[in-house]
Amino acid sequence: MTQAAIEVRGLSKHYRLGTGPQGRGDLRDTVAAAAARLRNRVRGRTPAATGDAGGGDEAQSSERDLWALRDVGFDVQRGEVLGLIGHNGAGKSTLLKILSRITDPTAGEAFIHGRMGSLLEVGTGFHPELTGRENVFLNGAVLGMSRREVADKFDEIVAFSEIGRFIDTPVKRYSSGMYVRLAFAVASNLEPEILVVDEVLAVGDAAFQKKCVAKMRSFADEGRTILFVSHNMGSIQSLCDRAVVLQRGRLIGGGTPAEAVRMYLAENAVEAADLADRTDREGHQRARVTSLRAWSGDNADAPGYLLYGEPATIRVGLSGVTRGLSCILAVYDGYNRPVCRFASKAAAATDTTTDEPAFLCEVPELPLTPGGYHLNATLHDRDGLADAIQQAAELTIEQGLMAGRALATPQLECPIAPRHAWAVPNGPA
Ligand SMILES: Nc1ncnc2c1ncn2[C@@H]1O[C@H](COP(=O)(O)OP(=O)(O)OP(=O)(O)O)[C@@H](O)[C@H]1O
Ligand SMILES: [Mg+2]
Repeated sequence: MTQAAIEVRGLSKHYRLGTGPQGRGDLRDTVAAAAARLRNRVRGRTPAATGDAGGGDEAQSSERDLWALRDVGFDVQRGEVLGLIGHNGAGKSTLLKILSRITDPTAGEAFIHGRMGSLLEVGTGFHPELTGRENVFLNGAVLGMSRREVADKFDEIVAFSEIGRFIDTPVKRYSSGMYVRLAFAVASNLEPEILVVDEVLAVGDAAFQKKCVAKMRSFADEGRTILFVSHNMGSIQSLCDRAVVLQRGRLIGGGTPAEAVRMYLAENAVEAADLADRTDREGHQRARVTSLRAWSGDNADAPGYLLYGEPATIRVGLSGVTRGLSCILAVYDGYNRPVCRFASKAAAATDTTTDEPAFLCEVPELPLTPGGYHLNATLHDRDGLADAIQQAAELTIEQGLMAGRALATPQLECPIAPRHAWAVPNGPA
């Protein structure tokens, strides 16, 4: 007997843009289609759709042809928590929809060994015209449960979702937060052996997110299988045993969560900002900034993307180095608010020298929260201002962990979240 809970084999999904249903609309329609397929499904198997086979290696054949997935294969072992990461449009949701039988693959197969509950993107999995209550029963049926079994779980689901009297309102009137609350309550309380979760943590409020993570953790501790999609590298690292990376429809690799996150960041490697040609600069120019690069950890090959809470290095390449040259890096957030400044002139005993024509600024635990930032770079020497470049480099900060602590959602509003510790009161339970 196989130990795999999910087996994905050569899965490809082709979309022809501009024809047929698009976007969310088709997903809503396919709830009914999924229910219909149940009646004659072969348990545990999603057959490839006939016709339109593909998955070969040729490039996108035209602009209207899109391969959302290309020959993807992997296993999720029983009891394993597998993270699935990749950029917008990489094919993550498409993969989960195929596993959940919301859509059919163009080629390949997926085998599910066990009862699966799925929490997909908002807009998927619920019928908009039906009430929350009706959708709970519909989802139970899709999971292969009897009405009686669902009825036994019903109160627990409503309590977990905290949506109260809205349970009898058509879900099309729900806010996206309410929608996700009910969807997660359904997916996690109908006792699935396998739980598939698409990016929920981004939608609910902080308290509900915490509840979801706790629920998933207890799921994992019970030895159930989870496939978890997230852009939150902190959640991926704290929750998953292993992670795989999708890039434009292809599986490019996997490993420990830390390895997969590194792969995901490397994929983003942007060209180091070449500043030698910039003319919008001030100063006497006898010393100049020629390049600016930033990277996370020891991953100097993948500049441009940094992880919150991880070590970061900023390298300022120079021409015309003279003794006494000093550098200031000023960091601004996406609203152009000054966030912090690094100045080499304010020296510390731990500073070192380098033979490279460069300043290297190392931050052991980057306290910048996820988002876009930019750097202004300035050089001074004995004669005063040597060089100054505004917006010398863009920085993108991704989710990470600060000494094991993930960011709480409200902190996402603030550009800085330093390392800290709490003592919490130890009162009666
Ligand atoms: N119904 C559809 N019709 C046409 N193209 C689609 C459809 N659904 C998805 N796509 C395309 O397939 C590709 C993969 O989409 P998918 O939603 O799976 O990405 P994702 O990895 O979940 O992205 P995100 O991180 O933004 O959620 C995208 O280019 C998307 O535009
Ligand atoms: Mg998605």
